Amino acid sequence: MENLLEQYQEAAGYIRSQIGGYVPETAIILGSGLGSLAGSLTETVSIPYTGIPHFARSTAIGHKGNLICGRLGNKTVLAMQGRFHYYEGYTMQQVTFPVRVMKLLGIENLFVSNAAGGINTAFKVGDLMIIRDHINMMPNPLIGKNLECFGTRFPDMTRAYDREFIRLVEQIADENNIPLKKGVYVGLTGPSYETPAEYAFYGKGGGDAIGMSTVPEVIVARHCGIRVFGMSVITNEGYHFADDFVNNADDVLEAADRAAGRMSFLFRSLVEKIG
Ligand code: HPA
Repeated sequence: MENLLEQYQEAAGYIRSQIGGYVPETAIILGSGLGSLAGSLTETVSIPYTGIPHFARSTAIGHKGNLICGRLGNKTVLAMQGRFHYYEGYTMQQVTFPVRVMKLLGIENLFVSNAAGGINTAFKVGDLMIIRDHINMMPNPLIGKNLECFGTRFPDMTRAYDREFIRLVEQIADENNIPLKKGVYVGLTGPSYETPAEYAFYGKGGGDAIGMSTVPEVIVARHCGIRVFGMSVITNEGYHFADDFVNNADDVLEAADRAAGRMSFLFRSLVEKIG
């Protein structure tokens, strides 16, 4: 475990050495098809994951594998262009490794994004959903010896998604006529998409959208006191299935890409309003 802490420190030290005078307070994890937000950063330093000690590699499609530090609006941010998923075969420690490194770098706010299937029948492809809560159907990333220097053994998850951030984004969306949904994200391992019966099951259980990421990073971020804002792009509808319908990753990426501009605008506006 001490060894693990050393690994976090080594990675943080390397990143610090690469980003020069930048001191980002907000980090952004860009999900499937949403990496283009990194393109709106200016004065960037791009660090491939392959160069960062102990970082995993991004193997998922639509995930580029760069850590990008730069200016977003009037703030300095650290953006992960692509994340690690449990379905890629990584351990939960590997999946959430970057979040602990962010903590050591002084990150106070984390914005997370993902592509997700809609299970609320009011949700349509292309909708943006503020994540107001989650249901974790994956192994908990905090299983194992607790690292007290990051947080307590039994961290609270009552308000995992920061209420103030949600309020601000709703206000921004309102002022700019951007329609938004709000709901509960169900995180499961994948990589198979759900069966119609599973979509219905999680919908009845209180979920509004469903995906294969985000929850591990959020749990680890909350454990160490990082404030979280989360947003899903609805890329498919998991509540009606025409006879010839099939779920496929290309359609998911395309739908995420079409929504990326709106999501980038909201993230940029939020980062400008805080801290
Ligand atoms: N299920 C799980 N993950 C997803 C989906 C889905 O329907 N769409 C995009 N990511």
